[in-house]
Amino acid sequence: MDTQTFIDQYYVERKDTDSLKWDLLEERFGDADLLPMWVADMEFKVPDGVFEALTERVQHGAFGYSFVPDSYYDTYSNWMEKHFSYKVEKEWCRPATGVVSALYWFMNCFTEAKDAVIITPPVYYPFFNVIKDLDRTLVTVDMTDNDGHFELDFDQFEQAIAANNVQLFILCSPHNPAGRVWTEEELEKMLSICDQYDVLVIADEIHQDFVFGNHKHMPAPIVAGGKYTDRIILVNAASKSFNLPGLVHANIVIENPKLRQTFDNYANQHIMSEKNLLGHIATEAAYRTGEEWLNGLRNVIQSNYDFVKTELTAHIPEIKVCDLEGTYLPLVDLKGFLDPADVKEFIQEKCKLAVDYGEWFGEAYKGYIRLNLATHPKFVEVAVGRITAAYKEL
Ligand SMILES: Cc1ncc(COP(=O)(O)O)c(C=O)c1O
Repeated sequence: MDTQTFIDQYYVERKDTDSLKWDLLEERFGDADLLPMWVADMEFKVPDGVFEALTERVQHGAFGYSFVPDSYYDTYSNWMEKHFSYKVEKEWCRPATGVVSALYWFMNCFTEAKDAVIITPPVYYPFFNVIKDLDRTLVTVDMTDNDGHFELDFDQFEQAIAANNVQLFILCSPHNPAGRVWTEEELEKMLSICDQYDVLVIADEIHQDFVFGNHKHMPAPIVAGGKYTDRIILVNAASKSFNLPGLVHANIVIENPKLRQTFDNYANQHIMSEKNLLGHIATEAAYRTGEEWLNGLRNVIQSNYDFVKTELTAHIPEIKVCDLEGTYLPLVDLKGFLDPADVKEFIQEKCKLAVDYGEWFGEAYKGYIRLNLATHPKFVEVAVGRITAAYKEL
C-alpha cells in the first residue's frame, strides 16, 4: 500500500481519547501545548481485519474468561515462519499481558536479588527500571555512535560479563532506540559470549516487524542454526507493529523444556493475571490480515525518516540524524550545536515538542532526542520546521 493511501485510510486524531501520548503532556512535560513526538504508539487505526474481529467480539457483548485458541498459535507460527524463518511450536508459547510485564516476571523467575543483569544503552528505559525495581545489579556497556551508526564493543561486553558475574542479558533486537538491526554475526558474538559465561538471554524482539532497506531481523533462537536456543527466552508482540499496545498482549517463546518448567512453576505461584481476550483476538487478526497494512505503514515511516534526515541536515549542518535500520524511533544528536544541558529548553520552550530525551536511555546520551515517526507526515513536517526555525534563532 502506498504512503498516501495508507494515511488517507488510517490516520486518526487521538487527542481527548485518554491517550498517554496526547492527553498527559501537562503531567509528563509540564506543558499541554507541546506537539507529541514521544512514546511508541501511532496515529493510525488498526488493519481492517483487526477492526472487524474486535467489532464482532464487542457486538457479541460478553467478556468472560478466555483461553488462547489453537488458531492463534497457527497464525502466529505462520507469521514467524514466513517473515523470520522461525517455526514456533505451540507448546513453547505462553501469553503475557505485555512485554514489560513479562520482563518483570522473567527477572523474578530466573534471577535472585543482587544478581547482575547486563544491558546495552542507549536502551529502552524500562530495562533499567526492571533491574533497579527488583534490586538486581545493573551492568551496562554503552554502545558507541559511529557517525550515526551504533555499535557494541564485544570485548567490553565480555569483560563486563566476566568482571561482574552477570547472570542475565536483556537483548533488544531490533534495538530501541539505537535503531540497529543486529546482523547474524553480531548476534552470534553476543550469544556465544553469553554461552561461554552461562548467561541467560531475554530477547525482547517487539520491534521485529520494523526493519528497513536490506536489513534482516533474525530471531535470537535461530542464530547459528539454533546453537544458543537453550539459553534464550524470546518475547515479542503484535502491539508495536499494529498499534495495539493498549490491549496488553504479548508472546513468550521458551524452547528449553527446563526453563519452560521453571517459568510455569513461577507463573502458577506468582502470575495471577488472566488472558486479555481482546488482546489475543486483535493479535491473531493482525497476523492473519495485517500484512498489506504493515507494508503501508513501513512506507510512511521510511518516507518520514527520509524527510527528517534530508531537511534537518540541509538546514542544520551540525545535526546528526542517526541511522534507522529498524524501529520507528530514530535518535537525533543535537550536541553539534547545543550544550546537552540546553536541549530540554530548546525542544520544549523554543520548538514546543514533546520527545524522549537521550538521557532517559542512558546517562551518556544526554544531548540526543528520540523522535517517533509512526505518525502523520504533517506532524513530522511541523516538528522539523520548528527545529530548523529555532536553530536559526540561536
Ligand atoms: C524494546 C521495547 N520493549 C517493550 C516495549 C513495550 O512493550 P509492552 O507495551 O508490551 O509492555 C517497548 C515499547 O516501546 C519497547 O520499545
